[in-house]
Amino acid sequence: MNDRVSGNTEGVREAMLARLDSLMSFEIGEDEFLPRELMKTLAECSCELNREIAVYITRDGEIVNVAIGTDRDVELTDYRLRRNAQRLSRVRCVHTHPDGDGHLSDVDLSALKIFRYDAMTAVGVKDGEPTWVQAAFLGENEEIILPPPARWYRLPEAEWLDQILRSDEIVGREETHVVARDRERAVLMGIESTESLEELKRLAETAGAEVVGMFLQKRSKPDSALFIGSGRAEELARDCQALEADVCIFDEELTGVQTRNLEEILRVKVIDRTMLILDIFAQRAASSEGKLQVELAQLQYRSSRLIGQGLILSRLAGGIGTRGPGESQLEMSRRRIRERMTELRRRLDEVEKQRNIRRKSREKNEIPVVALVGYTNAGKSTLLNALTGSDVYAEDQLFATLDAVSRRMVTPENTPYLLVDTVGFIRKLPHTLVSAFRSTLEEAALADVLVIVNDGASAEMMKQHDTVEEVLEELGATEQKRIEVINKCDIADPPPAFPGAVMVSAKTGQGLEDLKAKIAEALQESYAPVTFAIPFSQYGILAQIRPLGRVIAENHTDTGTELTMMISREDTERLVRRYGAEIVIPS
Ligand code: GTP
Repeated sequence: MNDRVSGNTEGVREAMLARLDSLMSFEIGEDEFLPRELMKTLAECSCELNREIAVYITRDGEIVNVAIGTDRDVELTDYRLRRNAQRLSRVRCVHTHPDGDGHLSDVDLSALKIFRYDAMTAVGVKDGEPTWVQAAFLGENEEIILPPPARWYRLPEAEWLDQILRSDEIVGREETHVVARDRERAVLMGIESTESLEELKRLAETAGAEVVGMFLQKRSKPDSALFIGSGRAEELARDCQALEADVCIFDEELTGVQTRNLEEILRVKVIDRTMLILDIFAQRAASSEGKLQVELAQLQYRSSRLIGQGLILSRLAGGIGTRGPGESQLEMSRRRIRERMTELRRRLDEVEKQRNIRRKSREKNEIPVVALVGYTNAGKSTLLNALTGSDVYAEDQLFATLDAVSRRMVTPENTPYLLVDTVGFIRKLPHTLVSAFRSTLEEAALADVLVIVNDGASAEMMKQHDTVEEVLEELGATEQKRIEVINKCDIADPPPAFPGAVMVSAKTGQGLEDLKAKIAEALQESYAPVTFAIPFSQYGILAQIRPLGRVIAENHTDTGTELTMMISREDTERLVRRYGAEIVIPS
């Protein structure tokens, strides 16, 4: 199987792939820009396939990649060195236009700017022959130098090679004037509400961006091509330019087409809320399971948007929205994405099995689980620390916790339980993420008691509470006992009314004893120590009871065995119905 030719290789015969693959060993002299022999082969293959073909040639004359596209475009690859993003990439891109038109398109020219190729070159091909060729180069202040197309057999090769060196010099000079910016400048665009936009701002800041502008255009229905109308998009393009934005972040999910159209108009990287959240998750994932989950969610999201797209500017331009937890895969063909997704699913299955084994062994010990759930930044980690005296990562950022953290605790009655911190919930939590994080979130779904932590200092508390309810429902966590907590009472002025909730401050310790008492009470309601007296004649029952709970004491008497266990009320009732009330010694 061929694995060197990249891109849209589906349905391409092996012989053709082998022919294209052999181009990688094609030798290009230092004084050659694009050898005729190479152009002829590209024209033959491109016409036979009726698809675009791109080759990438280094300044040393080596072909480093061959990619197949569709009949209209081809995915272009980023060769910039990250630490030197302003300089030229030292790689020129040559690609065919199977309609015979040798002119470079606007998309080609914007790719030249973004990927900073040495040159961008289009070779028109028709009936298996090259026709016209056009090359473009970067000039001063991002201007593009665009000599007219030349006949394929009469390329001004020396002139074009010289131009690469001149461009490199210009760009290199400019680099010294470019002030290094370590934070991306982000412009935000929403269509829902100011609150949602404010939250997007916090998300963007958490991802490491500097928010330089926020715009809201209330719309009941997004425009299918541009999300916002075309007039507003033109305006936004001017805003982005004036604010020197690097990225524009939309507060809703964008389709692949919308992203691409917007990037063309705005001329900055465009990402949506989901990609932003995925990006934060990618930076935060700490456990190997978390990393696998994030990578899978990112690939799922990406692959659903790749279809029909030739040039994926946003995913290739670096920074927010492009980072992954694993090795950074800047450009991946659909086939590679599919393979990687299968591999990730397989590895996650294995981790899941391990997790189930661990869970089983926990179940055997029958330690009840109490899960802290709540909107992101509500203070769950701080509360876990305050309750247990441990040191869990807590930060004033969204999604500081991605992996479920658990601590062993005991109630005043000596009932042990596990206190689990979970990933924060958020409005419009991408669906791919809910399913990707299912196993982590299942800690919440499987818990015996849910402590719902609410941020008493947030004006949005009730809305956040609704979101938490929705996600819990989605996870099927609707049956358990719930304790509502209003946190941050120290700064809530006044603390919001919420009947039945425990008022606490994880910061000052206020209300924590009340909360512990409530947890103990909830556990006691479902778990209690029970002493069974099993006579010798019914010894078989012991084997049935033991796995149902944690054995606290076992005494052998003259008549049989007395077994004291932490056991759920339901199990006790079932045993009593079956074997009679006399098997339980009243406490
Ligand atoms: P995620 O990991 O995003 O789910 O967040 P979280 O719910 O675990 O929140 P975390 O514990 O990280 O706390 C978020 C911020 O709120 C931190 O800056 C905490 O210091 C602050 N915080 C938490 N509890 C309190 C409180 O009772 N009072 C005050 N004033 N601040 C608090």
